[in-house]
Amino acid sequence: MKRGVIVAGSVLVGAVVGLFVSSAHAADAPRGQSIANANACMGCHAVDRKLVGPSFQQIAAKYKGDAQAPAKLASKVKNGGSGVWGMIPMPAHQSMSDADIRTVVDWVLKGAPSK
Ligand code: HEC
Repeated sequence: MKRGVIVAGSVLVGAVVGLFVSSAHAADAPRGQSIANANACMGCHAVDRKLVGPSFQQIAAKYKGDAQAPAKLASKVKNGGSGVWGMIPMPAHQSMSDADIRTVVDWVLKGAPSK
């Protein structure tokens, strides 16, 4: 009986430590990536291949050197739209803060690095 309690206790400690390690790891990822994960961007986009929408690397390549891109793409993410990459529309993201949108767009324009 006592043994069972000890085993259960160490499983619990393991789970708590695991949680801690994985959240520390998440903090290592670029903030743009965390925002993309938290706002379901990755349901339609991947970093390096086309899904419903263009890959983040394709987007970075298309707008390389375009000084208007950060502002233009931030409003596109906020308001949604279609016609640049095809007929499938991107939905609006009105509930995201402008700061979060700007951070995630800057990250996409850098080619969505994982570090
Ligand atoms: C329901 C699917 C869907 C979701 C969710 C989605 N996108 Fe998109 N996204 C698209 C599609 C489709 C396009 C291409 C739109 C077009 O052709 O104009 C696109 C285009 C883009 C572009 C390029 C826009 C342009 O005009 O070149 C960026 C940047 C982008 N998405 C970022 C994001 C971010 C950041 C999020 C999360 C906040 C997100 N997307 C969520 C489908 C999605």
